[in-house]
Amino acid sequence: MLDTTITKIEYRTVFESRGVETLEVDVFTQKGSGRVAAPFGAPGSRGEFEAPAYAPGGLRESMEILEKVIIPSLIGQDALEQEKIDTLLTQLDGTPNFEKIGGNTSAVLSTAVAKAAADTLKIPMFQLFRRDAGWTLPYPLGNMIGGGAHSLGPAPDMQEHLVVPIGTHTMKQAIEINLKVHEEIGKLLEIKDPGFAGGTDDENAWTANLTDVDALQIINQAADKIADAEGVQIRMGLDLAADRFWDPERNVYRYQREGKTRTPQQQLDFLGELIDRFHLIYVEDGFNSKDYDSFALLNKNFGDRCLICADDIYASNYERTRIGIEKGSAGAMIIKPNQVGTITGAKNTASLAKAHRLKVVISHRSGETADDSIAHLAVAWNASMIKSGVRGGERLAKLNELIRIENTLGKPQFIRW
Ligand code: PGA
Ligand code: ZN
Repeated sequence: MLDTTITKIEYRTVFESRGVETLEVDVFTQKGSGRVAAPFGAPGSRGEFEAPAYAPGGLRESMEILEKVIIPSLIGQDALEQEKIDTLLTQLDGTPNFEKIGGNTSAVLSTAVAKAAADTLKIPMFQLFRRDAGWTLPYPLGNMIGGGAHSLGPAPDMQEHLVVPIGTHTMKQAIEINLKVHEEIGKLLEIKDPGFAGGTDDENAWTANLTDVDALQIINQAADKIADAEGVQIRMGLDLAADRFWDPERNVYRYQREGKTRTPQQQLDFLGELIDRFHLIYVEDGFNSKDYDSFALLNKNFGDRCLICADDIYASNYERTRIGIEKGSAGAMIIKPNQVGTITGAKNTASLAKAHRLKVVISHRSGETADDSIAHLAVAWNASMIKSGVRGGERLAKLNELIRIENTLGKPQFIRW
């Protein structure tokens, strides 16, 4: 038996894709290692209810705690005992939501421990999380046109205008289709927006001077063309990240680009119209992250034909997800490990969701690193989709890893919906 005892942990700061300084750790066993650098949500887009990224004093304070408290406690632990290590991290923090050490600090350690264990055992990480076969490939949900907190200047109010190819034969084909749709949209934008100069947002989605409806129309046109050529279905979706344009004082959603406000009821009607008109398969964070009831109404009215997805409202948090399940607020949820601070925490929330027939969507952050762990989580936890952008090294790192995993599996095994 190979020794999976943690022998050493190194750490440093590096930069994520937006250029923000972030924490990277290396966890070593005698014969293996795992390296993870933390991703980061955009200011104005990170969820109010997710674990804070770092200690109250910031990244430096987190690194001090890492040096003095966390590393000495983890050395000598067995990297294979993920739950025990995650419990230890939770106890060392001692607050309900990693307020003391930060969700990023904890999540990079938790994930690097798993990577080190898999590396020591010479198995792919997805096999560490689920040993008994039954692995499945998620459909890639690609961000095509961006807006909101992920872009600058006049742009759509909603944060992400997405597509997902359904019924593709291989992971590689699915990824390629998203790339082709992205490319086609670029060509259409050149015609539609005279000021368009090929600009992209934090996740490499196109950004242009459009309303949300314009953006959906353009994506629709591009998706139809590629779907016909490829003989597959390409469906559209949205992540509104509605917290960013919610005005709690006036009780309205402020659409700056459109120059309009919408009450929660008008927002509900608007989303319903978009779902019907564009045959949307996915709507994430259509309301602010405190409004379980509007989520539930949308899910009640449209959940049979569109996945109503909870991101900032559930924040990968077990208790917030449990409340949402009771209220019927969503048919799908986003899982981001650094929202809850550990692999085990993320897994428990994902299991709760699946036990109540919610679809799980494993997601990147807008500020990303080359880490590909979420590809493995998606396969091991049978995620229905992975949200990891379309273009850019840090986005393709996850998608390319799924191509490798597909090769390891021997044949494509997309999840059944
Ligand atoms: P974030 O956005 O990573 O900037 O929080 C992604 C999302 O809202 O899904
Ligand atoms: Zn989101």
